[in-house]
Amino acid sequence: MFVIERKVWPLAVDSYIPVSQPDLSALERRYLLDAFDSTWISGAGDYVDRFEHQFAQFAGVSHAVSCVNGTAALHLALLALDIGTGDEVIVPDLTYVATANAVRYVGATPIFADCDSHTWNIDAASAASMMTDKTRAIIGVHLLGVPADVTALRDLVDAHHCAFIEDASEAHGAKWCDKPIG
Ligand SMILES: Cc1ncc(COP(=O)(O)O)c(C=O)c1O
Repeated sequence: MFVIERKVWPLAVDSYIPVSQPDLSALERRYLLDAFDSTWISGAGDYVDRFEHQFAQFAGVSHAVSCVNGTAALHLALLALDIGTGDEVIVPDLTYVATANAVRYVGATPIFADCDSHTWNIDAASAASMMTDKTRAIIGVHLLGVPADVTALRDLVDAHHCAFIEDASEAHGAKWCDKPIG
């Protein structure tokens, strides 16, 4: 029988760099129990309203819609753009699996563009070389807190009259040209 040792945060970080560390305090616990006690634990309620309102302010936009997870958010963005079977969506070849999964969920085909060695994010020149008349969108993922080249990607989608979906799951709070990404 194997016993898996349970480790407690923070782990020793001298041997590796953690992608993220959970930041859970007494406040999160209090709010969680408060929501539980109120029975408003699903798609609506005071905490959802407050989260959406405060997140919109944080991101510098007029509206925010919370989703059950990041995969669902990508899925909804593609559905909202009416992207489906026969369409192509350009995605980075280094990303979390949700990027390509969401494209498959709507029946479209993910086309993998290379990433640049500086940011590790999608390279606009590589994405440009993948564009066809079936391309409906580019998903620009901002990996590990580092923004992708939003200016180059926006220019590219504007020139091809297709959509730009930003996946900021890993980089909330990062900025590109002084504006919040996403
Ligand atoms: C870049 C990126 N996109 C999407 C997701 C999907 O998020 P979720 O696991 O909440 O579905 C993740 C999750 O880590 C991610 O890192």
